[in-house]
Amino acid sequence: TKIAVFASGSGSNFQAIAESIIRGELNAKIELVITDKPGAFVVTRAKELGILVLELAPKAFESKAHYEQAIVDALQEKHIEWIVLAGYMRLIGDTLLTAFPNRIVNIHPSLLPSFPGKDAIGQAFEHGVKVTGVTVHFVDAGMDTGPIIAQVAIDVAESREETESRIHQAEHKLYTATLQQLFQ
Ligand code: GRF
Repeated sequence: TKIAVFASGSGSNFQAIAESIIRGELNAKIELVITDKPGAFVVTRAKELGILVLELAPKAFESKAHYEQAIVDALQEKHIEWIVLAGYMRLIGDTLLTAFPNRIVNIHPSLLPSFPGKDAIGQAFEHGVKVTGVTVHFVDAGMDTGPIIAQVAIDVAESREETESRIHQAEHKLYTATLQQLFQ
C-alpha cells in the first residue's frame, strides 16, 4: 500500500510508522512526507530515512484550494492510495477530501469526541479526567470529527510529562496496528 504521511511537527508518529514498515510489521511504503511547516523536525527524520519530503508553505499559494491541488498532484504522481495524518495541524479541505474519499486517517491524543482540537492532553488535565486515550479516525471536513476506527484508553498520570509519554507510546503502537488492519 502506497501512503503519504502529513505532519507539521516533530514526526514521532511518522518515525514509528516508518520503523514498523522496516521491521516488516506494516505492509506499506511511505512514498512521500508532506509538511506545511518547512524546516519542521519531521523533515530531518524523513531525510535520515531516505524518504522524499515535500515542504509546502500554504501562504505561498493563492488559496487553500490551490495549496491542496498542488498536494493532490504530487500524491497522484506517486500513485498514493492512503493519506496518513500524523500531527498535521491543518483542517483538510474539499480538494483533498474529494480526491481521497474515505482514504484519509488521523490520530488524536484523546478519547474522541472528548477534547478535539489543539492541546488535547492539556484539556484532559484541565478537566481533571482520570482516563484519557488515543483515537484513530477517518478524516472529514470537521476538526477531529470523522468516524472512529480504533481507540485505546490510558490512565492519566500525576504529571503531564508522564501522561504525554504514555500517550505517545500508545499512539505509536495503535497507529501501526490500525493501519495494518486497514491496508489488508
Ligand atoms: C500526536 O499527539 C498526534 O496525536 C497529534 O499530534 C501529535 C503529533 O506528534 N495529532 P508527532 O509529531 O507525531 O510526534
